[in-house]
Amino acid sequence: MESTLPMTLLLFVSLLLHHPPPISAAASPPLLPEESLPTKSGYLPISPTAKSAIFYTFYEAQQPNSSLSKTPLLIWLQGGPGCSSMLGNFYELGPWRVSHRQGNVQRVVLERNSGSWNRIFGLLFLDNPIGAGFSIAETPEEIPRDQQGVAKHLFAAVTSFVGLDPSFKTRPIYFTGESYAGKYVPAIGYYILKKNAQLPPSKQVNLAGVVIGNGLTDPSTQVATHALNAYYSGFINDKQRNQLEKLQNEAVARTEKGNWSAATDARNEVLHTLQNMTGLATLYDFRRLIPYETDMVTELLSHPGVKRLLGVNESMVYEECSDAVSAALHEDVMKSVKYMVEFLVKESKVLLYQGHCDLRDGVVSTVAWVKKMEWEGIDKFMEADRKVWRVNGGLAGYVQKWGSLSHAVVLGAGHLVPTDQAVNSQAMIEDWVLERGVFANEQIKDASLDFQGVI
Ligand SMILES: *[C@@H]1O[C@H](CO)[C@@H](O)[C@H](O)[C@H]1NC(C)=O
Ligand SMILES: *[C@@H]1O[C@H](CO)[C@@H](O)[C@H](O)[C@H]1NC(C)=O
Ligand SMILES: *[C@@H]1O[C@H](CO)[C@@H](O)[C@H](O)[C@H]1NC(C)=O
Ligand SMILES: *[C@@H]1O[C@H](CO)[C@@H](O)[C@H](O)[C@H]1NC(C)=O
Repeated sequence: MESTLPMTLLLFVSLLLHHPPPISAAASPPLLPEESLPTKSGYLPISPTAKSAIFYTFYEAQQPNSSLSKTPLLIWLQGGPGCSSMLGNFYELGPWRVSHRQGNVQRVVLERNSGSWNRIFGLLFLDNPIGAGFSIAETPEEIPRDQQGVAKHLFAAVTSFVGLDPSFKTRPIYFTGESYAGKYVPAIGYYILKKNAQLPPSKQVNLAGVVIGNGLTDPSTQVATHALNAYYSGFINDKQRNQLEKLQNEAVARTEKGNWSAATDARNEVLHTLQNMTGLATLYDFRRLIPYETDMVTELLSHPGVKRLLGVNESMVYEECSDAVSAALHEDVMKSVKYMVEFLVKESKVLLYQGHCDLRDGVVSTVAWVKKMEWEGIDKFMEADRKVWRVNGGLAGYVQKWGSLSHAVVLGAGHLVPTDQAVNSQAMIEDWVLERGVFANEQIKDASLDFQGVI
């Protein structure tokens, strides 16, 4: 305690000596320049009666297909549970990203993202579920407590979004997301396919595929991989591996018993212990010396002027991740949605990608559950080559694909792949959607060609 006194004095003196430059409106450019504004933003109702609503920002494609009504539409969902998709928008894959400005009164500034996912696709960010980001939960009780509830709200929001513009109706829709969205993305995809079967074509949602980045999808399989992964990556020794395996086994046992809340706590214990053992700045990327600087987004979105421009009431307080949502979904964390992915891979197409340096929801953790998929194509997928993937001549990672399932490992990236590898992540999403390059479909080999010239 004593040692803080001189520090306080020092700070006080330095404040006295420091004369901040006068703040003038003309000198500081707007935080959200005109050209950075979304094409549309605001609220999508989730029911005709409730005040609860999902906040969205939409960026039309910079270079749409010659026919806008054929330009794919990507929808991004952040993880958490309870984190705002504005992280994705302003820190990862949106057309403008936050950055530090040096030596200015204004600390954050927006910069163009050359790897934005809206180069040739429309890009919609949804603050999901209600209660997250700028989305409105009329009461805490309305926040969903399971994936069925999440999907129901998302379906309503997407239906109302598509209703905003006649061109949206025919556009292929891809749900994408990261981390805990490894639950949301399969859940909304599954919900749409089941719902479409009961709806007339005019009311169906035009789902074309789903994408999960560094996802949590089959948690009890995934939680069991940390010790081995950390051990063979050289972060922990045999003794620590045993200790961590005991904790993992507890998380799995509680999951098997359906003791959901205790199972979530056990998973958190595994991650805290791994964090403690490794001493890393963040498990999201073992290379990082400091955690991801997502607080810059909070700084941006706390400005009343920025809220006004986005169509948000100035009285709304932006939080990066909502504790209320996290609490509502506490018992959902360890519940698997693997069966939903198994359904989606049959009826649609699926891309799973992971940044290579993520120790939370990385490559090993994903491959562990993919191998266990109940799908007639899984053996062929496991037999497929893992191809070297290059972007502009440089090594970007590895891609394995069979039929409707693709798996990409992104090198030089942690949990937030688009933040770390903007251009490569853009190449990945574009090539996967358009089925080009390493994501091209194998030509079905015509056996008769083998005999040409022989007879
Ligand atoms: C544009 O639309 C056409 C027709 O659907 C399609 O074949 C083509 O791949 C699309 N191109 C892009 C860049 O989306
Ligand atoms: C759930 O797990 C906790 C922690 O092990 C335990 O105290 C509790 O009794 C369990 N509840 C049930 C219903 O098994
Ligand atoms: C790990 O936990 C122990 C016991 O709580 C603590 O003393 C130590 O400082 C922690 N290490 C790190 C790197 O957080
Ligand atoms: C903004 O929210 C405040 C507090 O809930 C409310 O009184 C006010 O009417 C709202 N303003 C608008 C423009 O909706």
